[in-house]
Amino acid sequence: MRIGIIGAGGAARGIHLPGFRLCPDAEIAVLCEPDQNAATTTGIADVCADYREVLGRRDIDAVVVATPNYLHREIVLAALARGKHVLCEKPLALDRAAAEEMLRAAERSGKVHMTAFTYRFTPAIQYARRLVEQGELGDLRTVRAAYLMALSGHVLGWRSEKRLAGSGVLADIGSHLVHLVQWLAGDIRALTASERRFREDPTSDVEDWVAFLAEFATGACGTFEISRVAPGRGAGITEDIFIELYGTRGSLVFSLQDPWGLMAALGEDGKDPARPLRHYDVPEEFLKLPGSPRDIHAHDRRWGYRYDQAFQFIESVKLGQARAPSFEDGVRCQAVLDAALESAGSRRWVEVR
Ligand SMILES: NC(=O)c1ccc[n+]([C@@H]2O[C@H](COP(=O)([O-])OP(=O)(O)OC[C@H]3O[C@@H](n4cnc5c(N)ncnc54)[C@H](O)[C@@H]3O)[C@@H](O)[C@H]2O)c1
Repeated sequence: MRIGIIGAGGAARGIHLPGFRLCPDAEIAVLCEPDQNAATTTGIADVCADYREVLGRRDIDAVVVATPNYLHREIVLAALARGKHVLCEKPLALDRAAAEEMLRAAERSGKVHMTAFTYRFTPAIQYARRLVEQGELGDLRTVRAAYLMALSGHVLGWRSEKRLAGSGVLADIGSHLVHLVQWLAGDIRALTASERRFREDPTSDVEDWVAFLAEFATGACGTFEISRVAPGRGAGITEDIFIELYGTRGSLVFSLQDPWGLMAALGEDGKDPARPLRHYDVPEEFLKLPGSPRDIHAHDRRWGYRYDQAFQFIESVKLGQARAPSFEDGVRCQAVLDAALESAGSRRWVEVR
């Protein structure tokens, strides 16, 4: 499979390029990057500055859209029209309407589509999903979810403008958190949100902090906090995601800083209120996707799982199937982001449509 990568910034360098380089059936054939400096340091020989050149090439089977958010829709629609399979970065679009348009176009095209909800490939998240599916927690009652990072230079630039990013911290990292919780706990039915911009940056019109109370379709309740003004939480490998799920029979607590472990109350521990959470190692079978060519010991365990995303995309194309996280997951996530922004603006509960 010959891949074109569009955009050679942090996501492409940190996730897509190393990920596809590990896939024996994939070749990164061309890179589209208007910034010459960024392009030359990737080691890809075939570089262009206009994505239409990539899309016009018949030897390219699939593209990865890793540009700033405002370009996703335009590039994805053009790629699908040219018959390419598409892996698009999160958030899929600037709003739900655009994300739905992208999903409809992908479905019409019959091509494979995937949204880069990278943290889904964290071993502990894969294991948590299995425990939930097996009913180990019983019926879910409450969810506590947070994604916290420190303010960093990466917020400057396109991420600080609504018209380029869709929203601030919500689109940037809240999209990951919302997707993970939707995967583990199901759809969010309604929410009430609050947001703040703490940075004194006259060029920015987006929030740095968002929190919301949520009701799930199952009747479970949840709280979410998403912040990029949390000193000490880092920007990059030390950022943290916390997801706590409490059910009628047990509970589990995930932290991104412990991607090979979970704290949990399972079995008898879940029945006895005197027993504390205990640590479980993630079983071997969840440490990478089945069949992934990745050596699980070759990279920091807080980073390496990200490369399984490329492997899953290639496998989906081989199967001819768009598998989760697809554009459909991108749309479901976007619906929650839109509702949170609407609620924070109106200061009232909003149904997620
Ligand atoms: N999945 C993840 O974990 C993850 C991590 C980081 C970023 N992201 C997402 O990836 C996307 C890119 O983020 P980033 O951090 O790499 O941003 P970035 O600013 O570091 O890189 C974006 C790159 O796109 C290039 N670009 C701009 N216009 C272009 C065009 N018309 N054609 C081709 N390239 C163009 C820029 O020159 C830049 O090099 C965003 O949607 C972001 O939300 C996802």
